[in-house]
Amino acid sequence: MAIVLVITRVTMLPIFLMLLFTFPPSVLSFTFMQLPLPSPAMGPESYAFYRGEGPYTGVADGRTLKYTGPNDGFLDYAYNTPNRSKAVCDGNTNPSLGPTCGRPLGIGFLLRTGELYIADAYLGLVVVGTNGRLARPLVNSAEGQTFRLPDGLDIDQLRRQVYFTDASAVFSLSEIPLAVAANDATGRLLRYDIETNTTTVLLRNLSGPAGVVLAPDCRFVLVTEYIAKRVQKYWLTGPRANTSEVLVTFQGMPDNIKRTPAGDYYWVAVSIPMPNAVTQPTAVRIDGFGRILTSFSLSDQYYNKTISEVQEYGPALYIGSMDTDFVGKYYF
Ligand SMILES: *[C@@H]1O[C@H](CO)[C@@H](O)[C@H](O)[C@H]1NC(C)=O
Ligand SMILES: *[C@@H]1O[C@H](CO)[C@@H](O)[C@H](O)[C@H]1NC(C)=O
Ligand SMILES: *[C@@H]1O[C@H](CO)[C@@H](O)[C@H](O)[C@H]1NC(C)=O
Ligand SMILES: *[C@@H]1O[C@H](CO)[C@@H](O)[C@H](O)[C@H]1NC(C)=O
Ligand SMILES: *[C@@H]1O[C@H](CO)[C@@H](O)[C@H](O)[C@H]1NC(C)=O
Repeated sequence: MAIVLVITRVTMLPIFLMLLFTFPPSVLSFTFMQLPLPSPAMGPESYAFYRGEGPYTGVADGRTLKYTGPNDGFLDYAYNTPNRSKAVCDGNTNPSLGPTCGRPLGIGFLLRTGELYIADAYLGLVVVGTNGRLARPLVNSAEGQTFRLPDGLDIDQLRRQVYFTDASAVFSLSEIPLAVAANDATGRLLRYDIETNTTTVLLRNLSGPAGVVLAPDCRFVLVTEYIAKRVQKYWLTGPRANTSEVLVTFQGMPDNIKRTPAGDYYWVAVSIPMPNAVTQPTAVRIDGFGRILTSFSLSDQYYNKTISEVQEYGPALYIGSMDTDFVGKYYF
């Protein structure tokens, strides 16, 4: 049995609490909630949290939004270019305005300072200070090659290094279907060193590197390949340092990958194409050896939409999607 709750305002809270106490835990474990974005924002692709606050999320029109609670919902937090005006950009879905409005995809906080690092699909790697607002550009090319589609992001908090992907050297965000059709393999895994302001290319020739995540001890990094339908493991330390191996292959296309709060497990958002041309959005949990531990469909909640992220935080999974006007919160 599935319950779909749409909670928009605090007035719904008593009903929610009532459900909480009325239904046995087995039923509660299938509860799904939508946190609505302010209209006309779309496409919460990835999430970050800081000191118990959030989620923060980047949306299609270039803003990063912060969830402030059921009363005020999501409010503007950051934007990535001084050229962005709310009049022109809020609600924008026209890719030709991408460089003017920006498009935050992967986001992550440097926990020591509260600065938010953002992989912007058009503007490269940028960082925003503790009060949000206008971000500062950091880097938009490596080894002479301009980024075409900055996408996933994770941070080594100890060494102050930002791992991120450039999903393609050829195709931009609006051209992903073309990249898939062409079997593109020009993506890169990169590392930006905050201290030295230098960028290192760790892997090249990747087939749609979309998501990236560090192991809890930073011994390796996992990178998804959306087009190749797999995850690669790149060793950072030990005898196999600087080499990679295919960790696991999926039936569908993996987008972002996120570590669980407890440690060495990772949630992957996988979109599985079905024979009837319907996409089955699927949450998959793997371990550091690539073993699939959990896999369940979100078709009841997302129908034919792709999902971009599954992130565990507190008692819920936060579900990202390029195709929705809400943040999905799934109690499991
Ligand atoms: C902002 O717009 C100006 C004029 O069109 C352009 O020269 C500049 O590169 C733009 N800046 C950014 C960060 O996109
Ligand atoms: C950081 O490096 C980039 C080039 O990779 C350069 O454009 C930028 O000016 C540098 N920033 C600082 C603060 O040195
Ligand atoms: C890998 O990518 C480089 C450019 O980064 C390219 O020159 C090379 O041909 C590619 N190798 C393969 C095997 O595709
Ligand atoms: C990995 O690469 C780094 C930087 O190039 C180098 O210092 C290190 O020795 C390499 N490690 C191994 C095991 O090859
Ligand atoms: C599912 O979505 C895809 C891509 O947007 C579309 O081509 C297809 O027609 C949709 N199928 C159904 C049954 O809605």
